[in-house]
Amino acid sequence: MTIKQQGTTFTFHSSSKDSINTSKVVTQSGVHFVVMQQEVPTKRTTPKSVRWSVSFLFMYATIYCFHVHLRLRLIQTKDLQSRENNIITDHFRSVIPGSSDVFVFSAFGIHSDSDDFSQSDNVTVSISSVVDMDSPVRDYKCILRRKESPTAIWTKATLQLYPESHGRRFTAAAFSCMVKDVIDLDTVSLVADNKENPAVVLPIMFPSEAKRTFTVCVPPLNSRYSKAYQLVEMVEVGRLLGADHYFFYNYSTEWNVDVVLNHYKSRGLATIIQWSLPLALQINGTDGTSEEARLHYFGQLVMLNDCLNRNRGASKYVIFQDLDELLIPKNHQSWNDMLNSLPANMAAYMFRSSFFHLDWPNTGLDSNVINEIAKPYKAYAFIKQYREERIFGRSVRSKYIVDPLQVQVVGVHNVWKFRKGGKSYHVPPEVALVHHYREMKQNQQIRSQRDNSTLRYIGALYQIQRTWRSLLHIPLGPMN
Ligand SMILES: *[C@@H]1O[C@H](CO)[C@@H](O)[C@H](O)[C@H]1NC(C)=O
Ligand SMILES: *[C@@H]1O[C@H](CO)[C@@H](O)[C@H](O)[C@H]1NC(C)=O
Ligand SMILES: *[C@@H]1O[C@H](CO)[C@@H](O)[C@H](O)[C@H]1NC(C)=O
Ligand SMILES: *[C@@H]1O[C@H](CO)[C@@H](O)[C@H](O)[C@H]1NC(C)=O
Repeated sequence: MTIKQQGTTFTFHSSSKDSINTSKVVTQSGVHFVVMQQEVPTKRTTPKSVRWSVSFLFMYATIYCFHVHLRLRLIQTKDLQSRENNIITDHFRSVIPGSSDVFVFSAFGIHSDSDDFSQSDNVTVSISSVVDMDSPVRDYKCILRRKESPTAIWTKATLQLYPESHGRRFTAAAFSCMVKDVIDLDTVSLVADNKENPAVVLPIMFPSEAKRTFTVCVPPLNSRYSKAYQLVEMVEVGRLLGADHYFFYNYSTEWNVDVVLNHYKSRGLATIIQWSLPLALQINGTDGTSEEARLHYFGQLVMLNDCLNRNRGASKYVIFQDLDELLIPKNHQSWNDMLNSLPANMAAYMFRSSFFHLDWPNTGLDSNVINEIAKPYKAYAFIKQYREERIFGRSVRSKYIVDPLQVQVVGVHNVWKFRKGGKSYHVPPEVALVHHYREMKQNQQIRSQRDNSTLRYIGALYQIQRTWRSLLHIPLGPMN
């Protein structure tokens, strides 16, 4: 039986008296449901009962149809809305087609420094970019467009090279364009010299309403990243500390990590941004950590600032931390409690770091939860309870929490540029420490000391277990 409705084909499959099973095939042209009538639940069929059951089935089918159709439309609109709220461009694109002079990724509108950020109609549009230091082209302009307005605004683009390029040919950068007294800015294009036709049009993202308290930005997942156990531990411990959301940048992952990422994404805990670097930047292999890579560490500086900008307004605080790190308060239960004990309204809170060696012996703690959860699920924060006595100095391997409204440019271990009036505060290691878990093949004697401060978060282990149980047979990793 086939029922046509608004050009979409619906068919129904009834396998038992009480339930109707549908199998769904989504095609480009629409949604098709297949209905197969297996057994009409009548033994002796008079023409009347056949008519009745057919019309009953038809009615049921129509109602079901309508219901499913509605639900699908709801899902589609929701999807569209979330895409609109969270426009994600997923490619670096070349500004001069066919060349590698400048690649752009995303664009952000930032209201000029004033007492009230949102009241100013003077806007700086900042375009996340990667530029070729060998390129002779240096003059760029922005073409800005407003919503529902045919006239374009041309302005000079100022190039700001980010630090930490480590002498590579390509460097992370931002082009900024200032416009005065303009509302409803919508898109921006960067063009070289006086080229009229832009190759790339980027939507301009503006600070949104505050949605979250703590958002964590994680550097690009790379080299077929497959330590799913590390990801799960980081997210679950982070949630106990107060993390509301994680931003992951996907350069290269293994399938087990994809499953974990999608698990958190579907629960609204993670945003995954494709981080597909152009081939020109990958030459000499995909290993951005090697000396020969053309761009330092998979464009980490572009990524960090992209994440900062995406969260300006959306999150009260943004935390920058690596996959093998945890920011652990020493006297408080949560990041929020800890920040409340520190000087208020700082633009950045800087945290010092210390190594926990993974090759040092496991904790002597012989509890069920350690033996039955931490060990099988490789939750090292609860197994490794010794750290180096040495705590790195300020800005050496430090990580930080920022108020994104007060910060302009961030780096790997420190903030490079504050907005007007922004100040940083160095948090004493007695208040909180970045735990950096790593494998170290060193022979020399290193002074160690016990640090069991993660035990306050041992409740995360139950959540780690729950997560892995719901993921069933996914390998913990590493896989390569
Ligand atoms: C915008 O810029 C103009 C010109 O520089 C300046 O006079 C004005 O005060 C600025 N407005 C705000 C709200 O900052
Ligand atoms: C990460 O990127 C790869 C392609 O590089 C893709 O196959 C994979 O599905 C992505 N993972 C997620 C979780 O989006
Ligand atoms: C990387 O590229 C440079 C020049 O572009 C070349 O000299 C070098 O041998 C290459 N290295 C590898 C590992 O391919
Ligand atoms: C944690 O370490 C301290 C000493 O640093 C010790 O007094 C305390 O008993 C330890 N706690 C646990 C649960 O092992």
